[in-house]
Amino acid sequence: MQETLDKIKKEFIKGLDEVKEVLQLEELEQKFFSRKSGEMTEAMKSLKKLSGDAKAEFGKLANEVKKELEDLYGKKKNELEKNKMGDLADSESIDVTQPNLPKKENGSLHPETLVLREMEEVSRNMGFIVEDGPELDSDYFSFEALNIPDSHPARDSQDTFYIKGHPNWCMRPHVSNMQVRMIQKYGTPLRVAYPGRTFRNEATDASHDHTFYQFEALVIDKDINVGNLIGIIKELLSGLYKKDVEVRLRPGYFPFVEPGFEMDMKCLICEGQGCGACGHSGWVETLGCGLVHPKVLEAAGLDPKEWSGLAFGMGLTRLAMQKYRIEDIRHLQSGDLRFLKQF
Ligand code: PHE
Repeated sequence: MQETLDKIKKEFIKGLDEVKEVLQLEELEQKFFSRKSGEMTEAMKSLKKLSGDAKAEFGKLANEVKKELEDLYGKKKNELEKNKMGDLADSESIDVTQPNLPKKENGSLHPETLVLREMEEVSRNMGFIVEDGPELDSDYFSFEALNIPDSHPARDSQDTFYIKGHPNWCMRPHVSNMQVRMIQKYGTPLRVAYPGRTFRNEATDASHDHTFYQFEALVIDKDINVGNLIGIIKELLSGLYKKDVEVRLRPGYFPFVEPGFEMDMKCLICEGQGCGACGHSGWVETLGCGLVHPKVLEAAGLDPKEWSGLAFGMGLTRLAMQKYRIEDIRHLQSGDLRFLKQF
């Protein structure tokens, strides 16, 4: 019996030495410990044939050997598994020659984009459809339909970009090109807002750019009056700034509204005291507005005796400056990350 156990132990250890992978280890386990024919199992079974002291002595010995082999087996198994993890790690990860790349940085939205989204949300909540329109448009929708005929002096003040070879096309100088289009598309009654990019042939300076964003809204209904106009604008601006805003109207001329106004808002940065953002006047010129001109209603196919409307349009730049307390307009287009990272 002693011999048998010694032989088993020797063979097992030898076999274990040769094992390089888990599968081989399992084979070895079968060879020695399988219930049916494992060599160790057989040895244990043969103990039954012994009796008395011999049984007790060899029984103890056999158990010790068995325990020893099981321990060795367990150790080997751990080793193999550890190596396997190591191999995986080697094949997957660290390339020690790779240079230390800077961390990826997340960008943030531009303040005008933030204001635009907020305006869209507030106007949707007020029941407005929000639409997109063409940046390159016909002379008809940009001017003619808005009561600005070819000979009209207001054409000059727009400094429009025309397209070479296409005298009737232009880059829209305002988003008002959407007014007649929207009435034709949706009919009446109507509440629609249309933000978008606009273009003017301007020399760029501290307060002018050739490309900028506007937000305009149009309401068509029966018996619209100036009270409605002021009420809706105040509601929208209060929704954007999350507080009541104070406004004042001045007469203003736009051929597509009658009467027409310019609306100023009490400067939110200095609360009317005067600062860089409001030209030290305490008020910010915010938008153009008025009641839709009968000629525009007619161009859209409506009877001005039956229908009336209001419209107001503004640049996003000033709205953003007020919202985020930006005193100098030049920051907005500077591309300066120290500025942009604040949003
Ligand atoms: N379209 C005008 C502009 O660009 C603004 C405006 C819109 C005025 C609607 C009146 C009514 O300045």
